Amino acid sequence: MKKRARGPLFEVRHSAIHGYGVFALRRIRKGTTVTEYLGERVSHAEADARYEDKDPNDNHTFLFTVDARTVIDGGVDGNEARFINHGCDPNCESTTLDKRIFVEAIRTIQPGEELAYDYQIERDPEDPPNVDEIFACRCGAAKCRGSMLVARKAPRKAPRKKTARSGRTGKAKRRGAGR
Ligand SMILES: C[S@@+](CC[C@H](N)C(=O)[O-])C[C@H]1O[C@@H](n2cnc3c(N)ncnc32)[C@H](O)[C@@H]1O
Ligand SMILES: [Zn+2]
Repeated sequence: MKKRARGPLFEVRHSAIHGYGVFALRRIRKGTTVTEYLGERVSHAEADARYEDKDPNDNHTFLFTVDARTVIDGGVDGNEARFINHGCDPNCESTTLDKRIFVEAIRTIQPGEELAYDYQIERDPEDPPNVDEIFACRCGAAKCRGSMLVARKAPRKAPRKKTARSGRTGKAKRRGAGR
C-alpha cells in the first residue's frame, strides 16, 4: 500500500495575537517536539550590544535566553520558531536540552490552531512602573494574565529572623522569547 505523503506540521502566517504566528497544519499530538528555536548563539553582552539602541517601549525581540552564558538570536539565521507567539494558556512549552531550545506540544493541537508557549519573561528590580503595559499580552485566553512577564510574586511575610539571603547578581536580562 502506498504511504500518504505528510506535509509540513505548521505554517507561518498573520496572527490575531501579534504580527506573524505559527499555525498547525495537521493534528499535533501531545508530547510532539514541534520545532527547535534556532538562531545565532551569542553571549548576553553581545545580545545587549546588538539591540541597545532599541526604543525601551518596544517589546519586540527574537532573543531567547538559554542560560546565564548564552542567548539565541532568532533574528540571525533563525527559523520559523521565532514567530511562535506567547500565550498565557498555551498549547506548547519550551524545553532546554543540551543547551538547545525545543518547542513541545503539551496537549493535542488541532489543525488551524495557533501554537504558543508561555514566554515567562523575568522581572527586574529596575523595570519601569509601566513594564506590564510595555509587555502587555494580547493572547486572548480566558486565563490571560495580561502580561508576557512572569506573574508578580505575592508580597513575602517579614522574616522572623534577619538572615542573609542569596540575591541575584548582575542585571537581569530582558529577553522576549525566553525565561
Ligand atoms: C518571537 S516574536 C514572535 C513573532 C512575532 N509575532 C512577529 O511577527 O515577529 C516575539 C514578539 O512578538 C510579540 N508577541 C508575542 N506574543 C505576544 C502576545 N501574546 N501579546 C503581545 N505581543 C506578543 C512581542 O512583541 C514579542 O516580543
Ligand atoms: Zn495572555
